[in-house]
Order: sequence, then C-alpha cells, then structure tokens
Amino acid sequence: MELKTGKLYMINGPVVKASNTSSFMMHEVVRVGKIGLIGEIISLEGDRATIQIYEETTGLRIGEPVQSSGKLLSVMLGPGMIGNVYDGIQRPLEVLRSRSGDFLKRGVEVLPIDFKHEWDVEISIKDGDTVKEGQIIATVDETSSFTHRIMIPPGISGIVKNVRTSGRYAVDTVIAEIDDGNDKYNLTMFQNWPVRTPRPYKERLAVDEPLITGQRVIDTFFPLNKGGAACIPGGFGTGKTILQHQFAKWSDADVIVYIGCGERGNEMTEVLEEFPELKDPRNGKPLMERTILIANTSNMPVSAREASIYTGVTIAEYFRDMGYHVAVMADSTSRWAEALREISGRLEEMPAEEGFPPYLSSRLADFYERAGKVAALGNENLGSVSIIGAVSPPGGDFSEPVTTHTKRFTRCFWALDKSLANARHYPAINWLTSYSENIGDVKEWYSKTVSKDFFKLRNEALALLNEDDRLQQIIKLVGEDVLPDDQKLTVRAASLIKVGFLQQNSYSKVDCFASLNKQYEMLKIMLVFYEKARELISLGVAISEILKGSILNTLMRMKEEVSNDNVEKITVIGKELDSFFMALKKKYSGKPHNM
Ligand SMILES: Nc1ncnc2c1ncn2[C@@H]1O[C@H](COP(=O)(O)OP(=O)(O)OP(=O)(O)O)[C@@H](O)[C@H]1O
Ligand SMILES: [Mg+2]
Repeated sequence: MELKTGKLYMINGPVVKASNTSSFMMHEVVRVGKIGLIGEIISLEGDRATIQIYEETTGLRIGEPVQSSGKLLSVMLGPGMIGNVYDGIQRPLEVLRSRSGDFLKRGVEVLPIDFKHEWDVEISIKDGDTVKEGQIIATVDETSSFTHRIMIPPGISGIVKNVRTSGRYAVDTVIAEIDDGNDKYNLTMFQNWPVRTPRPYKERLAVDEPLITGQRVIDTFFPLNKGGAACIPGGFGTGKTILQHQFAKWSDADVIVYIGCGERGNEMTEVLEEFPELKDPRNGKPLMERTILIANTSNMPVSAREASIYTGVTIAEYFRDMGYHVAVMADSTSRWAEALREISGRLEEMPAEEGFPPYLSSRLADFYERAGKVAALGNENLGSVSIIGAVSPPGGDFSEPVTTHTKRFTRCFWALDKSLANARHYPAINWLTSYSENIGDVKEWYSKTVSKDFFKLRNEALALLNEDDRLQQIIKLVGEDVLPDDQKLTVRAASLIKVGFLQQNSYSKVDCFASLNKQYEMLKIMLVFYEKARELISLGVAISEILKGSILNTLMRMKEEVSNDNVEKITVIGKELDSFFMALKKKYSGKPHNM
C-alpha cells in the first residue's frame, strides 16, 4: 500500500487538521510533524482530516507533514505483556524511559512487547491439522503463575504447514503457516487488534458467578458478577482509588488490567511500589505476575485518556479469549469524559449536558458493553471481562451526566459517601443507596459454594441496617435514651455490623482481605448475637445487662483478630457467646425484670 503524506494547516492543542489526506482512513494512526507525534484520524471530510494527537503538540508548525501508516489504532497482543506498565497507546514506560530519560521524549515509537526475548513454547498442532480462528495452538509460561495461550487470530483458519517443534522462540518467529486454500498466513505468537473494535467471541453467556474481591461490603452485600460492570461514584477523597487498588490486589481474577486515567501520578507510583511486594492470597505468587498497568496520569496528554481506556479493555478481551477471567479497573472515567469534552470543544461540536458532547452516553455504553462472560471463538473456554469504573462527580453530585449515564450501563452501583469518609468509615460505600442487580444471578453460586443461608443472612442484615436508618432519624430528633430497649438493641446491632463488618481497613494486614468463609461466619455470628439478645429483651432483660459483657467487643474485633486461615476461631467465639447468653437467661429466667 502506498503511504501518503498530508500537510498541517491548523493546530489547536491536541487537535490538528491536515489537507491532502483523501486516501487516509478513519481511526488510522498517523505520524504528525517532523518529530513524528503519534495521532489518530477522528474525522475526514473531502481531502481534509482532523487528527487527535496523543502527545504534547508544543512546537508543531503549519505546513509540517502528516504521514499515514495504513493501520488503525491497535494494540499488540502476545507474551510479554504481563507485569508491564504502558502509556495510553501501549508504549512500555520503562522502555520509553530508558530511551529518552525521565522526561519522556515525543514521537518515540517502541514495541509494546519485547521481540528479543525468547520464550519456551509448547506447540500443540502438527502439519496437516485443520485449525480455526480463536483456537489455542500453543502455550507459554509467561510468569510462574500465568500461562499465556497462543491463539489463531480472529478471521484466520485453514491447514497447518511447516509447524515448528516446541522450543524457545521470540514472539515474531513464524511458528507455522496456515493455508486457507487461497492465502498463506504466517503464524507468530503475537497479533494486532484495533482498539475501537470489540474482539469477537462465539456467544455471550449468562453471568452466574461473582468476582470475589475480599471486600465484605461488596462480596456480601453488593456483589459483582464475573463479566459484570460496576460503577464507583465518589466525590473528592472518598476512597475510589484505594478501593480500586483493593480490587486489583485481591480480586479472584486471573488477569488484572488497571487503567490509571487522568489521575495523579503519585497514585500510580503507589501501585508500582506496592504491587511487586504483594502476594496473591490464593497461590502466594507476586501479584504483578498477573497484572498489567496502563498509566495515563494527569500530567500526560489529555487525548490519550480515551486511548488508555480502549487499550485496557482490548487487552482484557484478548486474555478473556484464552478462557481467563479478567478484571479491568478504570480510575477515573470522569477524566476520560472530561477529555472528550475538551476535544469536542476544540472541534466546535454542539455541546450537550454540562458541555459534554452528545455522544458521551454512547461512548460510555460502548465501553461497559465490552464487559461480559463469553464462550470464546474456536475453543471450549469460557472467559470474562469485568469492568469497575470509578466516577468522580464534581462536588459529589451524583446527578451529573457521567454518573447518571454510567449508572445506566452498569448493574452494580457502589456509592461512596462523603459523610462516611469524613467519619473515617472505609470503604465509604453507602449501604442504603448502593445496589447490585446481580444478586439473582449469583444466589445459587453462593448457596452452593458458601452456604445455603448466605443471602438470607445478608437480607436480614440489610433489613436491620434499614431499620437502624429509620431509628437514626428519631434519635436525631429526640436522642437515643427515649427508645425502648428492643430498638436500642437494633441500633447497637446495626452499629456492630457497620463497624465490625462493613468497615474494612485496607492498610491492615489481616483485615485488608476477607475470605468468603470469614465473611459468612462473621455475619452469621453477629446476627446470632442480635437474635439471642432480642430474645432476652423480649423476656424482660435490660439491654444494659447485655452490653455489660465483653462479647460485643469481641465481635467488633473479630475482623482483626480472626485471620482468613483461622476462621474456626469464630466457632470458639460462638461458644463464648452461647454461654454468655445462657448465663444471662439462667440468671433472669422466671423473674420479671425491668431493671
Ligand atoms: N478502605 C480504606 N481503608 C483505610 N483508609 C482508606 C480506605 N479508603 C480510603 N481511605 C483513606 O482515604 C484517603 C483517600 O482515598 P482515595 O485516594 O482512594 O480517594 P479518592 O476518592 O480516590 O480521591 P480523589 O478524588 O482525590 O481521587 C486515603 O488516603 C486513605 O487515607
Ligand atoms: Mg483517586
């Protein structure tokens, strides 16, 4: 293909226009100016093109060339991605830094994966085999805990020829040829895929399994499906980032793609410093061995925020196609929406709500629709992409466009609450306004995997919290003292659940992650306490008697004192609780008490 050169005639921040571009294509990658800045065609009209540039445009001049590439904005997918930190257009930051120093040079082109590295490849096809798109034909142990499955790219099928034997190869080595009768395709271990096009799959499946996050308020109260999408709206400093970090660390996904989009650089630094030290609680392996980071921080070009979102989700789909469960965290989608607003303003498009472009809603929909559980093309594997998007509504106002649109496309809504954060109740997820529409889908899974009465307990606890909310209104008006003992108990039991269960300290070694079993046993015993105390109060025992003992305190401290591998300790606490109530009952049985 002949590659054409256009000519710059307008520059407006990250948006530039060029003439002589009639042969260019929509969403094609172009190199702009003498320095070769990386850009993408975002509109074409006659022989003129509008280009969004993913690097700083300072110093660019009218008349400079715009070089077409013949390629759509794409990601390169293959072994060597895990553990990497990429910028929004999939350039490995470490390589960029080694080439250009701490202040990244512009126009630098680097390969997203290392072509020099040789991998031990286990090839499972032979000459004469018929292979089809999506089929897994080789494996590479990319890290000590992650096996990369090499697939035939979508759209390719045919007869295998000249296949190599298993051995050590670089990703660009031709390991076989695929002959479809007309053409011969050279099969390597990498493939390219345009980021704006969702990767194909055989069929979308019902989501029926939760993504376990180790965060009690999520797993027990508002679970997210593997293949589902969640929205975390929260005003400034309410804990969005810490929560996203918690998910990245502890979720039971096979691969994590963490997109830092337009947020402060130091938040990514925390991840970079902390993650390599952390071990996966399931297999003891370093968490970086399943993680890919995409960093497009606030000091990096605004226009690359959108690219970072698409890059992240496309990489996630690729691992999904291998049959893995992938979780994508995007922090914060509001910064992406703001970038859309800025670019749209420069394009002089007609603004809609709060200056955002009219297509804000469809862009968000396109992104969240890429979540899902699927039967992959050409292999029997089931994989999923779950997406958790943080939203930063200005002033914490959830009626603003990004929050309201995101809410439409996600089935979990984890609303972070300023007053909870101020009271240092973390995670500051408001249990009254948050919801998960996934409960019906995962009920059976919880019932089989954890316990039949899991959701019964959850519903009881939620009812208790709702009743507490009603009582809190009364307390505000007249104080707690006027409440009868049974209502005082409701307030105490709700407080136990709020402090002892919903609050979870991400900085605590023991409490940062709670296994499902621990979550279940904790909630169960808290509700047993409520039940038994209620019974005694109905028998006339004063609440002061119940609060006198140390049992409530023991239940409050369970989260810190019972580790995930010693959940049986809760049975011992249960015995303590039984004998405490038994003794009280014995003491007061038969006597009328109103002390
Ligand atoms: N689960 C948690 N456990 C303990 N502390 C927490 C937790 N979540 C949040 N915090 C505290 O709240 C602070 C702010 O959290 P974070 O940076 O995640 O907020 P944010 O919503 O991302 O803020 P911003 O709007 O500035 O991006 C943290 O530095 C930490 O001190
Ligand atoms: Mg943040």
